[in-house]
Amino acid sequence: MKPVGPIPPGYEALDGELVIGGHTVSALVANAGRTPLFVYSRAHLDKRMSELRSAIPARIGVNYAVKANPHPDVIAHMAGLADGFDIASSGELAMLQAAGIDAGRVSFAGPGKRDDELEAAITSGVTLNCESEGEAERTLAIADHLGIAPRMALRVNPDFELRGSGMKMGGGAKPFGVDASQVPPLARKLIDAGVEWRGLHIFTGSQALNEEAIIETQGNVLKLAANLAGEIDSSLPKLNMGGGFGIPYFPGDEAIDPTMIGAALADMVANLPPLLANTELCLELGRYLVGEAGVYLTRIVDKKESHGVAYLVTDGGLHHQLAASGNFGTVVRRNYPVAIASQFDAEPSEEVNVVGCLCTPLDRLADKAFLPRAEVGDLVAVFCAGAYGATASPAAFLGQGPAAEMLI
Ligand SMILES: Cc1ncc(COP(=O)(O)O)c(C=O)c1O
Repeated sequence: MKPVGPIPPGYEALDGELVIGGHTVSALVANAGRTPLFVYSRAHLDKRMSELRSAIPARIGVNYAVKANPHPDVIAHMAGLADGFDIASSGELAMLQAAGIDAGRVSFAGPGKRDDELEAAITSGVTLNCESEGEAERTLAIADHLGIAPRMALRVNPDFELRGSGMKMGGGAKPFGVDASQVPPLARKLIDAGVEWRGLHIFTGSQALNEEAIIETQGNVLKLAANLAGEIDSSLPKLNMGGGFGIPYFPGDEAIDPTMIGAALADMVANLPPLLANTELCLELGRYLVGEAGVYLTRIVDKKESHGVAYLVTDGGLHHQLAASGNFGTVVRRNYPVAIASQFDAEPSEEVNVVGCLCTPLDRLADKAFLPRAEVGDLVAVFCAGAYGATASPAAFLGQGPAAEMLI
């Protein structure tokens, strides 16, 4: 038997069924008309943001990293919750524009921005978090041609990393950002060229569950930003401090305590170096804001036994849940939080493998999980599906197509 990950708080049973945002899963699936189905809960999104806001100093804004979940209804809802938005492509820019989000709230980071993307960012007034000297030169040339002063910040590749993060985006050779030592001359060049200087972006990693590591990194980020501002010889209008706040996916993972991080941030904010005294500060978070607000529901279409092993075969799989299948950035596969949604309060009684409908051994949603006895027609829930699910999975694989999605 292998344990499954911890079910996030706020999910309960009604008449034996999992309830999401006040609705039973059978009602949600009936409403959607089909499975597989991603359900995102407004109530969960609101709660997460309000708890975070009350933990951190009001001085520090919260940006939403759209890549975590770009569903139009989620974006529209986050427009009322987040201060800013971080995008990674002109496709995401178009999504924010469709939601009527002001470009002044948006910053665009990511390596490999094409000329047409730079042009779209410049004309719309989005802040470009510039990733390299070459990108800076292309931006200046395009802006010159357009006759617009571009809004620009520099993304810094710091010499430190976020300890314990699932994905490291700083420290050593990286395709992200400008090496810290190269930042001052490039920033000077941009300021002298007349760009609308928006400061620095320092994103060091993602999926960290250790508060002390997060706090240490935020301290390092502020120190580095102050040093760089000194070398640039200009105060910073804005500093995007990154984030990296993780959520518990796997057995043994524990949720971070935002009040601990918030208290440390309050201390840092009270003792900011002079060059950061008037700097606008923000965190940039994706999965922490939306991950636990989403549940993926898939129906069991077959139950079989092979060599004494029970299989629940579902109509979903890795084409919607690449991360839960263990094929998106994990080295050793472990079980996500998974449950039989249609028998949410039943006692576990059977060891099963929950698999998807794709003809590949990679398509696993749970290995050797001890779950209530389920039959064809029952619904399986995969939790922590609100981030990096629908759009981070190969929905077109084997002609399956996307899952339904709804925000409730
Ligand atoms: C620049 C940047 N911002 C934000 C994020 C969001 O990370 P997370 O969803 O872990 O908060 C990432 C993730 O890779 C990133 O690269």
